[in-house]
Amino acid sequence: MPPRVACARRLVLNAERRFRRARLTYGHGTDNARDEAVFLVFHALGLAFDTSDAALEQPLSSCQMAAVEALVKARISQQRPAAYLTGRMWFCGHEFLVDERVLVPRSPIGELINTRFAPWLAISQVRRVLDIATGSGCIAIATALAFPWVRVDATDISPAALEVARANAARLGVADRVHFHLTDIFPAPAEPYDLILANPPYVPQAEFDALPAEYRHEPALGLVAGPDGLLVLRRLLGAVHTYLAPTGWLVMDTGATSAALAEAFPAWPFTWVALAHGGEGISVLAARELPRTRGATTARQLLD
Ligand SMILES: C[S@@+](CC[C@H](N)C(=O)[O-])C[C@H]1O[C@@H](n2cnc3c(N)ncnc32)[C@H](O)[C@@H]1O
Repeated sequence: MPPRVACARRLVLNAERRFRRARLTYGHGTDNARDEAVFLVFHALGLAFDTSDAALEQPLSSCQMAAVEALVKARISQQRPAAYLTGRMWFCGHEFLVDERVLVPRSPIGELINTRFAPWLAISQVRRVLDIATGSGCIAIATALAFPWVRVDATDISPAALEVARANAARLGVADRVHFHLTDIFPAPAEPYDLILANPPYVPQAEFDALPAEYRHEPALGLVAGPDGLLVLRRLLGAVHTYLAPTGWLVMDTGATSAALAEAFPAWPFTWVALAHGGEGISVLAARELPRTRGATTARQLLD
């Protein structure tokens, strides 16, 4: 139960306690009960994340308390990710609209955008970017915002996801530089890109079936990729040479499927990035490092 008279600080502590008791699963922007409580309580009260300590001690009206309680209750009873309850999520410092049509943005590719892809590539030389499997458009749009000289193409196979992505691009003022394509992995015709970013579906079916309830609210199309998680990745790697400029780079988020990927593609010298803010599975690969025997390798792997 929530306290009868409270300030924001008390409501955060109360929500945290109840989230712990309910044994919720995190991983959609936060990784613990306290941060999840802050995210929801601050949203309900319209507080900025840098709100002063003094403001957090102010008594709240019954209306404000009811708004917080509704969100806390919904988070527990529905086990929906907090971002779907608030309709927003932050990525690279920008607020994105999200709902069940798209995955909740959380890819560690955001960390590379924030650090300008150093030390891997010279972002000042990059002109054309492709974001494969764009979902909410978070990676494509954050890239366009961080590097105002680039033009981004972004693909997704889900028309519903692209509706959200287009709304985000318009809201964040980059609709003229981020172009969305409803297509299977790559846009047509093939054009050389200086940078290809991809956070494709990579969860093996059996792992998806065992995921906690929170993940079942996300579109399965954004997560599941066949029995070994490599269904989309095999096709992506099979054709990526056609789309990379000779000096281009491929940056992928393959999460927990990275070991299976490295095993299935032993000739591909992926460099695995050590992430400062946690997470796993981010690789970078220069076009010049692509295996020379690509045709034979790809044909065999496509048949696997
Ligand atoms: C893991 S989500 C990533 C979304 C977004 N890039 C992010 O980081 O939050 C994968 C996305 O891939 C899309 N997708 C699935 N299969 C695809 C395919 N064959 N071609 C293009 N997009 C695909 C899904 O609709 C989903 O939006």
